[in-house]
Amino acid sequence: MLPTDHPRLGVIGTGLMGRAAAIAAGAHPGATVTALANRTRPSADSLADALVDDGHDRPEVFTRLDDLLAAGLVDALIVATPDDQHADAVVAAAEAGVHVLVEKPFTTRVDDADRALDAVRRAGTLGMCLFNHRWVPAYAQAKEVAAGLGAPVLAYARKNDTLHVPTEMLSWAGDTTCAWFLSSHDIDLVTWLFDDDVAEVVASARSGVLRGRGIDTPDAVQIQCRFDGGAVATFESCWVYPDTFPTMTDSFVEVVYEGGVIQLDRLAENITVADHSAYRHPRNVLLRSLHGRPSGAYHDAIGHFLDCVQTGAPPLVTLESSRHVTAVLAAAHESLRTGGPVRVPSAVV
Ligand SMILES: NC(=O)c1ccc[n+]([C@@H]2O[C@H](COP(=O)([O-])OP(=O)(O)OC[C@H]3O[C@@H](n4cnc5c(N)ncnc54)[C@H](O)[C@@H]3O)[C@@H](O)[C@H]2O)c1
Repeated sequence: MLPTDHPRLGVIGTGLMGRAAAIAAGAHPGATVTALANRTRPSADSLADALVDDGHDRPEVFTRLDDLLAAGLVDALIVATPDDQHADAVVAAAEAGVHVLVEKPFTTRVDDADRALDAVRRAGTLGMCLFNHRWVPAYAQAKEVAAGLGAPVLAYARKNDTLHVPTEMLSWAGDTTCAWFLSSHDIDLVTWLFDDDVAEVVASARSGVLRGRGIDTPDAVQIQCRFDGGAVATFESCWVYPDTFPTMTDSFVEVVYEGGVIQLDRLAENITVADHSAYRHPRNVLLRSLHGRPSGAYHDAIGHFLDCVQTGAPPLVTLESSRHVTAVLAAAHESLRTGGPVRVPSAVV
């Protein structure tokens, strides 16, 4: 597909991340947000109004993706619907000849990942999953440093959210798990750093707090992995930190190689603020405003995708690697069901 100098962009799912994505994309030179879709119209209308307030033309608003795509208003689509609602939108975009940037996780089922991947490859459009951790400066630096450290040995990655996230922020927490929502980022990061795939997983979980609040999802999930090359890794996620914790997400990654170790601690987010009401680390690494403009790894990942649409270059995050993250997590959830180790299915070539 030919590069597009001035990509016209649509967003489906105008909740928290769709909003952040539209604002980030609207700040990209040459790109214009021309269409928004959301199942319920008021949320899309309010984002359209916010874009006008930011000095942009008002995007068209739809409640159905088919209508948005049929209107022929977009060259690229950002999919920011809940975790289990990504695949159909990716397929529809590809079939309409539209490039697609899909929120993480790519999909929550391997068959969905396969049909979405197949649709994009058949269309010859660009596809990328928004694993924005690869744009966190320290994580990208780790990739360069790791090149001199020899064979991967061990990884440990913890990503834990405060209770506020599944109980107040996400209305659909019961349709996903903390592992899909949080560890997907870490599995993408570690497989990228190790340049290796996971062969087998075994997982365990603890439930209670969230079920007690009527949300049918585990409080915490622990996944242990063995990589093709022999390295081992643990991925932990948890959704029940107290809301007094000074940051919404506690994130720590350690990767050990034969020649050294790299530790990546995001707990403090580079900034500490204490006032008379709280001690906190406001969000800084992924999403922030810098002199009035959107900034941070989330913004940079979206900018990278739009650069690829403009130049035709392949995105840094391939849909094949994102399909692997889905396969690892699907195997982990199968292990939660069976209680034993599960092999990760490789891609059909
Ligand atoms: N990249 C990141 O760092 C990051 C961070 C948080 C969330 N996410 C991901 O972003 C996605 C969206 O999360 P969110 O926090 O914005 O959720 P949200 O609930 O705030 O927004 C989802 C929106 O999608 C709409 N919607 C639901 N189903 C739809 C459908 N079938 N068609 C059209 N609209 C539909 C809802 O009405 C809602 O407005 C999730 O996959 C989540 O895991 C990514």
